[in-house]
Amino acid sequence: MSDFQLTRTLDERTAETALRTDVLEGLTRTPKVLPPKWFYDARGSELFEEITRLPEYYPTRAEREILQGRAGEIAAATGARTLVELGSGSSEKTRHLIEAMPGLDTYVPVDVSESALTGAAEALLADHPRLRVHALLADFTKALQLPDSPGPRLVVFLGGTIGNLLPPERAEFLASVRAMLSPGDALLMGTDLVKEESVLVAAYDDAQGVTAAFNKNVLAVVDRELGGDFHAADFAHVAVWNREHEWIEMRLRARSEARVKIRALDLVVPFAAGEEILTEISAKFREDGVRRELAAAGMELTHWWTDSAGRFALSLSVAEGGVV
Ligand code: SAH
Ligand code: AVI
Repeated sequence: MSDFQLTRTLDERTAETALRTDVLEGLTRTPKVLPPKWFYDARGSELFEEITRLPEYYPTRAEREILQGRAGEIAAATGARTLVELGSGSSEKTRHLIEAMPGLDTYVPVDVSESALTGAAEALLADHPRLRVHALLADFTKALQLPDSPGPRLVVFLGGTIGNLLPPERAEFLASVRAMLSPGDALLMGTDLVKEESVLVAAYDDAQGVTAAFNKNVLAVVDRELGGDFHAADFAHVAVWNREHEWIEMRLRARSEARVKIRALDLVVPFAAGEEILTEISAKFREDGVRRELAAAGMELTHWWTDSAGRFALSLSVAEGGVV
């Protein structure tokens, strides 16, 4: 007997309206931008999973190593009965936590990708039929209505996805996570760490071109959902390290001058040869910065673990004045 519920706080109309707004605003300003959440239709979610298996993309393996080694400690420190995961994707690595938490009652994966949520729940329930899974199809940057479930609650945000938010968005997001925490609750967050530029750039520009396909998938989403006529082949995938901000920038660069029609917006978007769309930042962190950003949002970092090569970190934090 499995217990699965999916709550959609994002219906198709709301999602389409949000996409229209983001595309209109993002492609009519200079420089052009598109928010990274639009990568993740079913194809984008599959491509992301492929990225996690690439030799160059170390973050998933590094974070899994930490989770494997520390899941027992995290379970003991938090005593969590509800696990809320923001941007849960395939929930693959989360299994290490779930399996270390004998008292776990409810798992709440939150994602904008319905295919990722249903695929993850099906795989998880096949192995843990007594777990209650209450999935939320929702944007984690908007107010979340969490289901009623027993505390304490552990909120997890893995993969380094916090790095895909701009600094002011991160501050607002962390404040909203802080507001979710009651006394005894905790936040477990994965952050990729600053390292050698060549390692970082290779992770976002792999030899097989999977990251390029993932990046260009956003054009396919705009074409399908808004009647665009982007040709992916007319754009080049670009990954550069921004030393000042310590983040990777993924961009799509027009190979030649182009005019792209977007029917649903009654819009023609002109591109000069070489003009770029910024599609994602992926910020890399240092311990001090993570501690500071958490503190600014009213949380206190209590544990900091890295993988053996020091590439990636997991931090555990509580609401200021709390204990874990
Ligand atoms: N946590 C997983 C997946 C990371 S990929 C891992 O570590 O492997 C990022 C995930 O966040 C994707 O599944 C994507 O659909 C989801 N996502 C991106 N932006 C989001 C948003 N604004 N709200 C909710 N989910 C989002
Ligand atoms: C989901 N997020 C943490 C990934 C990252 O590394 O920033 C998304 C990604 N973009 C390109 N490759 C992977």
